[in-house]
Amino acid sequence: MPSKKYDLVIANGRVIDPALGFGKEAHVFVKDGKIAKIEKESASITREMKSLSDEQFIDATGKLVVPGLIDIHVHLREPGREDEETVESGCRAAASGGFTSLCCMPNTTPCIDNQETVKFVQDRAKNADARVYVIGAITKGRLGVELSEIGDLVNMGAVGITDDGTYLQDAQVMRHALEYAKMFDIPVMQHAEDSQLCDGAIMNESYESTRLGLRGAPPVAEEIAVQRDISLCRLTGGRLHIQHISTRAGVDAVRRAKAEGINVTCEVTPHHLILTDDEIGKAFNTNLRVNPPIRSEADREAVVEGLIDGTIDCIASDHAPHSEEEKDCEFDKAPPGMIGLETSLGLIKTYIIDKGYLSWADAIAKMTVNPARILGLPGGTMAIDSPADIVIINPDKKWTVRADKFRSLSKNSPYIGWKLNARVEKTILGGRIVYEV
Ligand code: NCD
Repeated sequence: MPSKKYDLVIANGRVIDPALGFGKEAHVFVKDGKIAKIEKESASITREMKSLSDEQFIDATGKLVVPGLIDIHVHLREPGREDEETVESGCRAAASGGFTSLCCMPNTTPCIDNQETVKFVQDRAKNADARVYVIGAITKGRLGVELSEIGDLVNMGAVGITDDGTYLQDAQVMRHALEYAKMFDIPVMQHAEDSQLCDGAIMNESYESTRLGLRGAPPVAEEIAVQRDISLCRLTGGRLHIQHISTRAGVDAVRRAKAEGINVTCEVTPHHLILTDDEIGKAFNTNLRVNPPIRSEADREAVVEGLIDGTIDCIASDHAPHSEEEKDCEFDKAPPGMIGLETSLGLIKTYIIDKGYLSWADAIAKMTVNPARILGLPGGTMAIDSPADIVIINPDKKWTVRADKFRSLSKNSPYIGWKLNARVEKTILGGRIVYEV
């Protein structure tokens, strides 16, 4: 028996690969888990089809075929809170959201500040439905005092470092982190909220927080944190990545730093692009409690502007699972965080692409090639010989977000009941279909 030429053919879709500058109807051919070729002529399809079974041939007419999405800000909760999420369940959720690669945060119990824990997470991810890249903790125990063994973490495969969940408040420790990380060419990823200014904060500091009598985190807490770290980045020549940016002043600071040539990048979440703090008083939905908090309309507009003009490099979900028991309480008692892997793409289509802020190609770039570049990850493109990580999207499929459909073990989404305008049809990881509707 002659071996078949291709393992999978995705025909007739609109192929969008921003890394290749490609955006037209074409056929994608997969062999041995890798992209073998992308071709436009339909003659080749008829030829190849003869040797393929039904499972090996996907007709993607009317669909988008794009590189597997990459989410560089995900909390997988393992080890420690396997009731909320595991590496396996988080990767299943990722696959249904169109993500084939994700970076997991180190605020687990124990925290990922040593080689053993990096290895533990990597082992758990071996047969998972997405590729998992580990972000190590900047400081031991994420306590902000003593640097982790950064070289050890990198040698074990960590692709970045962060104390996410907490701002690294000590400027001297942050300076050293940037210097060490520079030696290994990895970014220091910062949760940029000055801890003292945000002490006890429940929501954004604004008219709304005053009206509701809830303690607020002032936007200036982000501005100060971002500006300090940009100054340290300039001083050290290291690489700084600002996580979940949420304010006008924060975006302005990054814009100025980039113009100056400083090595800074940043991400935004769908919730900071879409939600505003006046939602909180309507029903006190605890799934709206998140750090940094959802802000005022003026800040929301500013992050959208930053996304459009390229100040903001990428979109990341900050998928933060919390149990129902913990979220089923008064607003100010609830832990911060919302899940996001399964709603990101639909939200971006509905509230960013359909509103004319970004084209499909620009939005896909912020969820593929840009995050891949920031962390030096493979993938994010369908270039020949890259892993066959592919998402097929129905760009106009309307669907309603339902808690019982989430594959995440946690259901803490403020979007339950929302109607979204695009849906993942199939997710392919290394040539293997890991999700289909
Ligand atoms: C994160 C979590 O739950 O781990 N929550 C969140 O609101 N983003 C940690 C954090 O960044 O506070």
